[in-house]
Amino acid sequence: MQRTLLRLGLVIAFLASAISVFQSNFAFGEAQSHNVPLGLPADTWLHFVPRQNPQTAAKVELGRKLFFDKRLSADGTVACATCHQPERAFADDKPVAEGVLKRRGTRNSPSILNVIYNNGQFWDGRSDTLEEQAVLPLINPLEMGDQTHDDVIARLRALPEYVTAFQQTFGKPTINIMLVGNAISAFERTLLSGAAPLDRYLAGNKVALNDAELRGMAVFRGRGRCTRCHTMNEHRMLFSDYEYRNTGVAARHPEFEKLARQLFHASDDELPQLVKQLASQPGGSELGRMLVSHHILDVGSFHTPSLRNVALTPPYFHDGSAATLADVVKFYNEGGKDNLNLDTELHPLGLTEEEQRDLVTFLGALTGSQPQVAQPLSAMRNRRMN
Ligand code: HEC
Ligand code: HEC
Repeated sequence: MQRTLLRLGLVIAFLASAISVFQSNFAFGEAQSHNVPLGLPADTWLHFVPRQNPQTAAKVELGRKLFFDKRLSADGTVACATCHQPERAFADDKPVAEGVLKRRGTRNSPSILNVIYNNGQFWDGRSDTLEEQAVLPLINPLEMGDQTHDDVIARLRALPEYVTAFQQTFGKPTINIMLVGNAISAFERTLLSGAAPLDRYLAGNKVALNDAELRGMAVFRGRGRCTRCHTMNEHRMLFSDYEYRNTGVAARHPEFEKLARQLFHASDDELPQLVKQLASQPGGSELGRMLVSHHILDVGSFHTPSLRNVALTPPYFHDGSAATLADVVKFYNEGGKDNLNLDTELHPLGLTEEEQRDLVTFLGALTGSQPQVAQPLSAMRNRRMN
């Protein structure tokens, strides 16, 4: 009898705590979900904003202004938005980025929609946070071309509109590089995109996807094996496992094998120095995650990108080497490109022509809402205007 009572007590205690957890989640969901588009994590504002850099309306507005301002670049011709264009899901249409003086980088500009969810920034994750990332393009000679952060800060301090904006945002007239990074990343965290046809379908609207898209989804989750990496998790429908994977895209680069072989023959002691040296050689950026981790199994691995809005951002892959989504699907159908580190999830798939077409159609159903911050390129400020 006593035991039964004890058990009953435990059950009641369990139920009570379950109900209170449910209630607090519910209250949180209601309060926060109003401006998180359908399909994105309901806990976005709770878990993806660092405590040190809270969102405020003034900060987001200042970040937006900086993001579109070409005067931040060395010669006044390039803004963040030159390569991350609102009308192209905040990516561009070039295989690799083009910065000041038309200098070409080595990698494709990624969409920065939903970048708030990344656990590392860049194709190789070399920046841990958005704050850290946001100030690097300024002093990248192939991007915005400034010599030093001090140059940028001196320029901003000479512009009364920025002196006022920093004063209003941070409560003091200071302008420094950390505050620039904080403002830009607060703006970037508002670049959310959801409510794609797939989200509406999963939320219960059974006509939101047509037959070809439904067949494509079945291939995506089944014979195509795509969800092994582009995860479809009910609560985190972000189409990425946020890992670094070797699909063999890098192995298509003519220098890749030579560079990789040198690394495979080096001892642990020699590695850091050798990595530094190889990074600056032609094709060095193809070493991918290894440049950051110095781990030999990361040679040729890159961040699994989210596939939301992917139909808006050709060309594809970290090097822009696939012109269309059909090319991407063909690449996977052949099992990626073989190399020493090829991910074990990749195998030739043997998909029919129709299955491949359906897969491409399905990827189109991941195009979602676009944040209302768009400022046409023609309206972007450049230095001649002041
Ligand atoms: C010249 C083109 C260019 C400009 C200008 C530029 N970017 Fe980028 N951006 C890129 C490229 C290319 C990458 C990927 C580079 C890599 O992975 O090595 C990138 C990566 C990023 C990422 C990481 C996204 C991810 O998914 O990993 C963020 C965030 C970002 N840029 C924000 C900015 C901000 C903020 C600015 C302005 C301060 C800016 N970019 C200026 C081309 C550009
Ligand atoms: C082993 C993990 C893995 C699997 C399985 C996988 N992907 Fe990927 N996917 C990646 C990685 C990593 C990249 C980036 C590769 C690079 O650029 O080097 C990528 C890139 C892409 C891109 C280009 C995105 C862009 O913005 O450039 C598309 C589209 C894509 N994958 C679709 C698919 C489809 C469709 C399937 C199933 C047929 C699939 N992926 C299977 C890991 C994977």
